[in-house]
Amino acid sequence: MLLENKVGIVTGGGMGMGEAVAKRWAAEGARVVLTDINSEAGQAVADSIQTGGGEARFVLADSGSEEDWENVISLTIQEFGGLDIMHNNAGIHFWYNIINDPIEKWDEMMRVNLRGVFLGCRFAIPKIIERGGGAIVNTSSISAKAGGPAQALYGASKAGVTQFTRSLARMYGPNGIRVNAINPGVIDTPMMRQAAAEAAESRADEADQMADPPPAGPTRGGPALGRLGTAEEIASVVTFLVSDEASYVSGVDLTVDGGLMT
Ligand SMILES: NC(=O)c1ccc[n+]([C@@H]2O[C@H](COP(=O)([O-])OP(=O)(O)OC[C@H]3O[C@@H](n4cnc5c(N)ncnc54)[C@H](O)[C@@H]3O)[C@@H](O)[C@H]2O)c1
Repeated sequence: MLLENKVGIVTGGGMGMGEAVAKRWAAEGARVVLTDINSEAGQAVADSIQTGGGEARFVLADSGSEEDWENVISLTIQEFGGLDIMHNNAGIHFWYNIINDPIEKWDEMMRVNLRGVFLGCRFAIPKIIERGGGAIVNTSSISAKAGGPAQALYGASKAGVTQFTRSLARMYGPNGIRVNAINPGVIDTPMMRQAAAEAAESRADEADQMADPPPAGPTRGGPALGRLGTAEEIASVVTFLVSDEASYVSGVDLTVDGGLMT
């Protein structure tokens, strides 16, 4: 098992990639604290890990809240005695028009996607240092690398995560902490399904208003592998990155997109 005797925190562990990571870490021998703002989903994941013989606790916590982080960290120490690994996975996505949509949506996006990662690292790092080192993975996105239309806000928040990750890798490398980011491509999760449905709806609305809609613009032609990614495939990569198998990997942002960006 890759993560025996490790204690880990996964944010947004109630569904999608966070759920897959929490389950995989537990299967690899880690004791896992998973957080979410959806208590029903988060508790169900923790229960399913426990039922399967693993160790997991769910904490209702908003990644953007300092107070909630204090609670998550103290519960982790109280229940499992320390902290070794962390996946800052929680994030939100919405399509955004920078001229017409409410300005407050900027704060909402940055609060979860960027401030949430900052707070997670800020609260976790002192505890990981106490253990003599460990590893953190932050979830960025291919949207940090390519300008998606209506994704200026989301992409900016994720590019912030990537750069934040690089600085932390430099800063805490001497403490034995590796800090990496992943750039998932199009992964089949509740978030991706909702984003796809909203995009289809808005394309249909536009087409209704145009007698002669223009043809679709050029695309990259989809993933080279010809299919969407699964949450479990992301969990494999995250598990590798926090494990000793990646002991000399730090400061990278690893694209996991089935060849979409090539
Ligand atoms: N699905 C994709 O194609 C894709 C691609 C690139 C990057 N990402 C990123 O990967 C991460 C996981 O995405 P997913 O597709 O699994 O999403 P998802 O929406 O399917 O699941 C995310 C989970 O995070 C929780 N969450 C949302 N806001 C939270 C908050 N403030 N505090 C704690 N928990 C919160 C949700 O309740 C949910 O359980 C996100 O950071 C997302 O931006 C997703």
